[in-house]
Amino acid sequence: MKKRVAILISGGGSNMEALVQDMERDHPAEPVLVLANIPDAGGLAKAKARGIPTACIDHRAFRGDRTAFEAALNQALEAAAPDIICLAGFMRILAPEFIARWQGKMLNIHPSILPLFRGLHTHQRALDAGMAVHGCTVHEVTGELDGGPILGQAVIPVHEGDTADDLAARLLPLEHKLYPVVLRRFAVGNRAKMLLG
Ligand code: GRF
Repeated sequence: MKKRVAILISGGGSNMEALVQDMERDHPAEPVLVLANIPDAGGLAKAKARGIPTACIDHRAFRGDRTAFEAALNQALEAAAPDIICLAGFMRILAPEFIARWQGKMLNIHPSILPLFRGLHTHQRALDAGMAVHGCTVHEVTGELDGGPILGQAVIPVHEGDTADDLAARLLPLEHKLYPVVLRRFAVGNRAKMLLG
């Protein structure tokens, strides 16, 4: 039986596409839902074009009531009965109660070498810190923001004169490689951390 995967997005969904593309090959998991919190998230159309069920829970409709937003999110997820939830550029912070419901089943990709640079603006912060390397991390989601067990990482060099945009552009193709590799492993119960490369 294939593992059922729900993917949560807020934007273009390029990481979602990389995951889905990989699952189209021989794979221990299958995508059962792509869910966005923004109606015009580009990734929704991409998922539809691939024949994957989509849903949108617009957080703005809940006017700051995070509990109600997450209840709706949860309802949509429960209906899809995922074994694994992949956050892929999902830009809402989730409450501990929501995370507890799915803990052990929820992954996230973060554009830094965690535990460095949790939160936003990771590329600029890596530059500001004078790092010689930068990277991305796939980790399990726990109540601690960007703080759960690390499952996989990939690194790139920081070149003289790099801007935050340069780093983001060089890192994204590695995110697209790392996340599918980690999901494949996770879907068969392998939680050992790995370094891509
Ligand atoms: C990625 O860089 C991801 O690491 C970050 O947001 C970006 C999402 O891009 N959190 P996409 O929506 O997957 O194209």
